[in-house]
Amino acid sequence: MGTTIQQELEQIRERGLYRSTRMVSGRQDSHVELNGREVLLLCSNNYLGLAGSPALVQASVEATERYGTSSGASRLVSGTMALHERLEAEIARFKRTESSLVFNSGYAANTGIIAALVGRGDVIFSDRLNHASIVDGALLSSARLIRYPHNDVTALESLLKRHRGTGRALIVTDAVFSMDGDIAPLRELVGLKKTYNALLMVDDAHGSGVLGDDGSGTAELLGVSDDVDILMGTFGKALGSFGAYAAVSAELRELLVNRARSFIFSTSLPPAVLGASLEALRIVRSPEGTRLRQSLRANADRLRSLLSEAGFDLPDGMTQIIPIMTGQAETAMHFSEMLLEEGIFAQGIRPPTVPAGACRLRCTVMATHTLRDLDRAAERIADVGRRLGVI
Ligand SMILES: Cc1ncc(COP(=O)(O)O)c(C=O)c1O
Repeated sequence: MGTTIQQELEQIRERGLYRSTRMVSGRQDSHVELNGREVLLLCSNNYLGLAGSPALVQASVEATERYGTSSGASRLVSGTMALHERLEAEIARFKRTESSLVFNSGYAANTGIIAALVGRGDVIFSDRLNHASIVDGALLSSARLIRYPHNDVTALESLLKRHRGTGRALIVTDAVFSMDGDIAPLRELVGLKKTYNALLMVDDAHGSGVLGDDGSGTAELLGVSDDVDILMGTFGKALGSFGAYAAVSAELRELLVNRARSFIFSTSLPPAVLGASLEALRIVRSPEGTRLRQSLRANADRLRSLLSEAGFDLPDGMTQIIPIMTGQAETAMHFSEMLLEEGIFAQGIRPPTVPAGACRLRCTVMATHTLRDLDRAAERIADVGRRLGVI
């Protein structure tokens, strides 16, 4: 007999890695009711506050009224509706690519795209801190997975040299790292991709809607949009909706339509989601989007500087994701629990989301936080940090 389910759960608890869900009542705003109590939300990816916006709600309701509640089939059967095509045209305009393909989530996009592009005999070069969905896509693909040290272009270059000529090469990276908030060296990666004739895929789940003049993302910010083969992004974070996409050439889109299993074998996104995503794109590219990005940036700068002044040793970064390193899992979880008692919800992050020994409190800022919210949060975080000996 193998281990029972109960024993396995016990082992997870003993390792300090037990997880459970918490319930938010009402809309996802900067303050939420969590398990019946109002708290300041400091761990949402709803960076621009769009998930609770009346405009997105209305767009979603109108799409449902006009097109119904479900697409009823996968995209290649009868599940391609006018809204899917409209959204794909808007994404291509937003990202300035020839075309785009919508996926049901970021997880589905990464697993589908990677396994469609490479297979046995090919090599994937993946940043060590890439999101789990990239790792899972790599494992599904049967290609050889080589994880290079975080943002280390010198190490990546020697790996590319060593594996030159072995099938197709795919370099893949988060643009803004989800747990660290730092930015990948995209210009250097473009240089390497050209020298070593590799494909470059960039997952901009946390930069889309947030970075670049019109919110188009990290590649635009760094001036490399034309040189990235696959610009992947999501709607479930700054854009306040759900789903994801690959912004690509027409040729690559054709390949994904024919090969990406998560695209082929799943019912397509429903009208409610597509309507909200279209409205989110409109807002992000409008003057309101610019204003929201300015608030987000100012809020992120403020929380970073308050926490640094309080004595926290924050990793370099300029984005809305601010990690407070605690090392051990128990400290991260205590930190989160004690803050919750003070009315602030920031999530503790443990393996396998981050490497062992690199546990942290992951704080995320929203454009809709007020200065008062952030001042209070920084004060409470510093107080708990001192009590736990983190500072
Ligand atoms: C970098 C990155 N890629 C992909 C995903 C998955 O996206 P989704 O939540 O839409 O499945 C996430 C979400 O946590 C992410 O942080």
